Amino acid sequence: MIAVVGATGNTGRAVVKELRHLGHEPLCIVRNAEKAREVLGTSAKTAVAELTDCAGLDEALQGIESVFVVTGHNPQMAEQQNNVLDAALKAGVKHLVRVSGGRAVVRPDSGSVVGRGHHAIEERLRQSGIGWIILRPGLFMQNAFTQTASIKNDGKIVLPFANNLPVALTDVRDTGAVGARILVDPAAHVGKTYEFTGALTTYGEFAEVFSQVLGRKITYVAATIAQAEQAMKARGMPDWLVTHLVAMARVAAEGGFSNENIGPIRTIVGRDPITTRQFVEDFKSLFV
Ligand SMILES: NC(=O)c1ccc[n+]([C@@H]2O[C@H](COP(=O)([O-])OP(=O)(O)OC[C@H]3O[C@@H](n4cnc5c(N)ncnc54)[C@H](OP(=O)(O)O)[C@@H]3O)[C@@H](O)[C@H]2O)c1
Repeated sequence: MIAVVGATGNTGRAVVKELRHLGHEPLCIVRNAEKAREVLGTSAKTAVAELTDCAGLDEALQGIESVFVVTGHNPQMAEQQNNVLDAALKAGVKHLVRVSGGRAVVRPDSGSVVGRGHHAIEERLRQSGIGWIILRPGLFMQNAFTQTASIKNDGKIVLPFANNLPVALTDVRDTGAVGARILVDPAAHVGKTYEFTGALTTYGEFAEVFSQVLGRKITYVAATIAQAEQAMKARGMPDWLVTHLVAMARVAAEGGFSNENIGPIRTIVGRDPITTRQFVEDFKSLFV
C-alpha cells in the first residue's frame, strides 16, 4: 500500500491522480478531511493527521510500504518531515519519496529557512536506513497562481526576475507523474536524487504565452529585489517568507533556476514535460 502525505496540496494531488491512473488507490494522509473530499473526491482513502501528531502518523503509516512526502513552506518543515520519517521507520515502511528544492536552494548555508530545512531533512533521511528517493523539481509553473489577481485585474505579471533570465519552469503535474511511477516500482530508484525541469524559458516569454492564450496583452514587469521585498512587507507577509522569497530571487539572478533538465521526465514518464502553453491553457479559467 502507498501513502501520500500532503495529498491535498499542489504536488500531492497530482501524485494521487497519477497513481489512480496507474491503477493504485493510495492512502491520503491529510489534516483536513473536508478539504480532502473536495480536492481528492469522496471515494479517496484518507487518514487524518497533523504533521505534529506523532501518534496519528504512527497509526496512519501502519501497513504502508511506500510513502510520498511533500509539505508546504514553513519554518517547522524539518521537524514536521522528521516526524513522518520517524513514523515511517517505526511502521517498517520500505520506501520514502520526497519533494525537495533545487540544488542551488538546498544548502546548509541557504539564506532561506526552507533551503536549510530541506538540507537538514535530507541529511537525516540519507542516514535513516529507509529506501529514499529525492525529487528536485525546478521552479513551479503553479507559482503563477500568486499572480492571478494581477493578471485578471491589471494584465500584469510582476516578479523579481529579469525579463530575459533563463528559467526552467516545471509543472507540478510532472512531479506527480514522476513521483507516482517511482512509487509503484521504487526498487530501481532507491538512493537516487532526480533533478528535473520543463523546457527552458523566461518570464517575458511566459507572459507572452499568457497573452496568446488569454487573447489580451499580459505584460511582464521585472521588479527589483528591493521593490519586491518592500511590497511583500507592505502586504504583511511573515518575515521568514519575505526572507525566503528574497533569497530565491537572488538564487535565480545567479542562474540557480536556469539549468534545463528534461531527461528524467522523458525517461521515467515516457513523454516530454508539460509546456508553459499547456499550463496556461489548462488553467485559463482562473486567469480570465
Ligand atoms: N514553489 C516552487 O517553485 C518550488 C520549487 C521546488 C520545490 N518546491 C518545494 O515543494 C514543496 C511545496 O509543494 P506544494 O506547492 O505542492 O505544497 P502545497 O501545495 O503547499 O501543499 C502542502 C501540503 O502539505 C500539507 N500540510 C502543510 N502543513 C501541514 C501540517 N501541519 N499538517 C498536515 N499537513 C500539512 C498541506 O495541507 P492543506 O492542504 O491542508 O494545507 C498540503 O497538503 C516545498 O517543500 C517546496 O520547498 C517548491
